[in-house]
Amino acid sequence: MTLDQLSHDPSGPVLLLGGYGTVGAELARAAAPFWPLMLAGRTPSRAAELCRETGAVARRWDLADPEPFAAGVRAVVALVNDPADRALEAALRGGVPYVDVTRWTARLQRAVARVSLENGAGAAAPVLLSSGWMGGVVPLVAAALAERLGGLESLDTAIRYDLADRAGADSVEFMDRLGLAYEVTEGGLSRAVTPLTAARTVDVGGERTRVARIDTPEQFSLPLTLGASSVTTRIGFSSVGATRALIGLGRVGFFRWASGERWQPARRKLLYAPGEGGTARLRLDASGPRGRASWTVTDPAGQAHLTAVGALLGLRRVLGEDGAPAPAGLVFPEQHPRAGEVVGALADLGVAVEATGGAGEVAA
Ligand SMILES: NC(=O)c1ccc[n+]([C@@H]2O[C@H](COP(=O)([O-])OP(=O)(O)OC[C@H]3O[C@@H](n4cnc5c(N)ncnc54)[C@H](OP(=O)(O)O)[C@@H]3O)[C@@H](O)[C@H]2O)c1
Repeated sequence: MTLDQLSHDPSGPVLLLGGYGTVGAELARAAAPFWPLMLAGRTPSRAAELCRETGAVARRWDLADPEPFAAGVRAVVALVNDPADRALEAALRGGVPYVDVTRWTARLQRAVARVSLENGAGAAAPVLLSSGWMGGVVPLVAAALAERLGGLESLDTAIRYDLADRAGADSVEFMDRLGLAYEVTEGGLSRAVTPLTAARTVDVGGERTRVARIDTPEQFSLPLTLGASSVTTRIGFSSVGATRALIGLGRVGFFRWASGERWQPARRKLLYAPGEGGTARLRLDASGPRGRASWTVTDPAGQAHLTAVGALLGLRRVLGEDGAPAPAGLVFPEQHPRAGEVVGALADLGVAVEATGGAGEVAA
């Protein structure tokens, strides 16, 4: 078997794998002023217009096709599910900085194991696992909150998912895990949680939103990286009726008994109905040694843009272009050496972070 070959070329293009998808195209537009780009996917002709717009080149790399891919690149950003970790393995072999925004928790844990086992000593280049909600924006903002509060003891995140918003076909797999229990840390102890339970109503940016529990990677990483003893993420839709229906289906066990292949089309039809564009909104309630804080994050350009913003900040981090040297080996977004600057960096990219309760009050 011939292996994929990514070699490190510090003046070469940044490879965006899945780079002309919904999130990928947002990242390509945001990244084009800073680095030359290579966009890859199964049908590169679909990228023709985006290439004209951004000056990128497009290449074919089908992760489901055994034909190997080879390129010299400055960094790689994974913006499409990579079930066999082909891009991660190639980046590790080639010493290429790597950012990933696609992994649900179990896949992220697999990546941690792979990186740790690399040559028995971890990777030489940075491997940023930035799949926390919105391409790592939630853990980044958590780091900023931790800096403000003198540490992070607990974090509750409430996501308001705008049903009018855009989402690509590749994103449904992340959501389609509602029949699987997952582990979280609560009060410093591990506990198994069933998705869509512990519902509550939360004010997210002035909108009352019914939210319930969902598995996201920051619930795994924040207790390890920032020492948080309780981390909880909940999600709800912009339509109360849709959220109640989803929670109701969860309560009767639909996602558990319909978890097999046979029911996949029905489940995915239920979970994947993208719109033309909406607003991404979420709220973080944190506590730490210096007290409590509640911040709301809003991106009027929607969740694909917000995810691309997280990926762009990740790219700057692994390339050492955010004012701190690039970290070697495994790193999470919240391990940010200048966490106090995160809110300003988000604002520069069109994302508002406001203290909840104070109208228009900026968080930092
Ligand atoms: N961390 C987060 O909070 C967060 C938020 C949003 C999205 N995401 C993740 O980001 C990823 C992209 O989402 P999206 O909405 O942009 O999806 P999308 O619009 O479907 O984009 C997927 C891209 O990957 C390419 N692709 C699909 N299958 C491929 C394969 N086998 N080999 C190589 N390329 C392939 C597609 O082009 P071709 O069809 O031409 O191959 C397309 O360019 C998803 O995994 C999603 O879960 C994460």
